[in-house]
Amino acid sequence: MKTALITGGAQRIGAQITQTLHKHDYNVIIHYRHKKQVATALSQMLNRKRPNSATTLQAELSNVDSIQTLSASIHGLDVLVNNAAIFYPTPIAYANHDSWQQIINTNLMAPFFLSQSLATTLAKNNGCIINIVDIHAQRPLKNYPIYSISKAGLLMMTQALARELAPKIRVCGVSPGSILWPEDTELDNKQKNKILKKIALSKQGSTQDIANTVLFLINSPYITGQIINVDGGRTLSQ
Ligand SMILES: NC(=O)c1ccc[n+]([C@@H]2O[C@H](COP(=O)([O-])OP(=O)(O)OC[C@H]3O[C@@H](n4cnc5c(N)ncnc54)[C@H](OP(=O)(O)O)[C@@H]3O)[C@@H](O)[C@H]2O)c1
Repeated sequence: MKTALITGGAQRIGAQITQTLHKHDYNVIIHYRHKKQVATALSQMLNRKRPNSATTLQAELSNVDSIQTLSASIHGLDVLVNNAAIFYPTPIAYANHDSWQQIINTNLMAPFFLSQSLATTLAKNNGCIINIVDIHAQRPLKNYPIYSISKAGLLMMTQALARELAPKIRVCGVSPGSILWPEDTELDNKQKNKILKKIALSKQGSTQDIANTVLFLINSPYITGQIINVDGGRTLSQ
């Protein structure tokens, strides 16, 4: 049995990745920060399907000590999916040091130090790392400069670590376009339609579209350092 750690793996896109890897015979470690109940419910559901196939781990990923504690509790890993991220606006006039630290640490520092501290166990298994990036890593999202910078860093990190960790570990990325509306920011229909109009396929993607691409990259032993946009053609006109 292979094992995958999915950060932020309890809800939304992360939960779909967790369930998809589990369906394809992975044991899953579901990382969460606050959503203990949601993570526990998902893990119980997966354990009913296959006993002892899912566990949960709590960690605040903006803190380097918690990252080290999380890594130290993992023995044997084949796949690391860096999915957890924070997304909220930081218009330049209001951006402050706290939001810089929170967003950059969670979205960029954590994937780097998780990759570093889990590299030995991943290398033993010829494993791989999949980073969930964002199409806005290449073209900034208006009013979200810190988030866009964090994802641009994650894109470069995917390529840089693909070189650093080769040949034992492959590192790839998936860049979602619009998949799920943000949970914390209420968008009205006008705002949603404005976003949808820019997508060549005229609709949002599904969480399964992202999970399928993660699975494809995991199962592609001659691909490393590549980031696939899963965006319904949004970047064609960005
Ligand atoms: N949704 C989209 O359409 C979209 C588009 C482009 C890119 N993406 C990328 O796809 C990934 C998943 O997106 P999503 O919308 O499904 O994400 P989400 O639900 O907003 O967040 C995923 C998880 O990240 C965890 N998290 C946030 N801050 C954390 C921290 N400081 N420490 C530890 N965990 C933390 C949260 O855990 P708790 O809930 O337990 O606190 C949350 O469950 C993200 O990397 C996102 O940037 C999403």
